[in-house]
Amino acid sequence: MYNIAVIPGDGTGPEVVREGLKVLDAISGLSGFKLNYVHYDLGGDRYQRSGEVLPDGVLSELRGFDAIYLGAIGHPDVKPGILEKGLLLRLRFELDQYINLRPVKLYQGVDTPLKDKKPEDIDFVVIRENTEGQYVGAGGFLRKGTPDEIAIQESISTRKGVDRCLRYAYLCAKKRNKAKKVTLCGKTNVLTYTFDLWERAFHEIGQKEFPDITRDYAHVDATVMWMVKNPEWFDVIVTENMFGDIITDLGAMIQGGMGIAAGGNINPEGVSMFEPIGGSAPKYTGQNVVNPLAAIGAAAMMLEIIGEAEAALRIEKAIEFVCANKLKSMAAGKMGYTTAQVGDLVTKNL
Ligand code: IPM
Ligand code: MN
Repeated sequence: MYNIAVIPGDGTGPEVVREGLKVLDAISGLSGFKLNYVHYDLGGDRYQRSGEVLPDGVLSELRGFDAIYLGAIGHPDVKPGILEKGLLLRLRFELDQYINLRPVKLYQGVDTPLKDKKPEDIDFVVIRENTEGQYVGAGGFLRKGTPDEIAIQESISTRKGVDRCLRYAYLCAKKRNKAKKVTLCGKTNVLTYTFDLWERAFHEIGQKEFPDITRDYAHVDATVMWMVKNPEWFDVIVTENMFGDIITDLGAMIQGGMGIAAGGNINPEGVSMFEPIGGSAPKYTGQNVVNPLAAIGAAAMMLEIIGEAEAALRIEKAIEFVCANKLKSMAAGKMGYTTAQVGDLVTKNL
């Protein structure tokens, strides 16, 4: 029995989470484990109603779960930053989910905008550091609102934070057992403090602890170029928070779009949180047209991390089958099925 906190959140979050839970219920029945859900009403609507974003009492309850399943955060009527920082980033930081795990995998039958690239060419994982960098919110204004205004946004990297992220990336390459290669994505030619630390740690840890894993380096601007031109060169990419944020949206596009891209905010020693990486999609909300496969894929990742790898694999296989044989497109409104019907299709093919 696993206790799962469910945060459907904003926009299309509730619609896709409903399909994820449908699939989870089915697979737990088939596999012989139980999932016990507790739903939390968090997000833009609650904030507008009550002014509450993430009450401390809720946060301390969340620490007690086996995992958190999240739909989407972001509301068109709430000023940008309030929910993102107050809810999503606060959860990542407070629960010390220091890895953002974002697989980029093109399934058979899914269209990629990259000409001539096939599923065997697009299959890598981005390990994004998830608790440091510019995301920590260090900085401030000086003389705000005057012509002499100064805005500072600092990027923080700690040896401990970098080390644990790199180790996770090496372990991931080892576990995947494919090209056994980790590419550090950085900017050593300009960010000469941050990436000096990253690069030193990368080679020290790699050399000492993972001698059989190939080490590779690419500047972030080159990384996005190769992701488009030669995605087959990548096995595991490891990078800092902001670069990881940016390159994984490109990753989502080359694997077929936001409708299929899943991610996990992982604390290997604590409570992890799983989400489709696309946003709340306000313009599609309530229409039963968005693709729930990213949310279903996030549910599969959740099972894998909590220790139900076989069930996770069955969900992934069902997603692959549905992509290859059923859906006309991954895009909202163009799938040939409703959101709920896609959830049913995956459930039927477990
Ligand atoms: C993501 C999102 C978040 C991020 C936002 C909503 C704060 O873009 O999960 O990639 O920047 O990490
Ligand atoms: Mn992002």
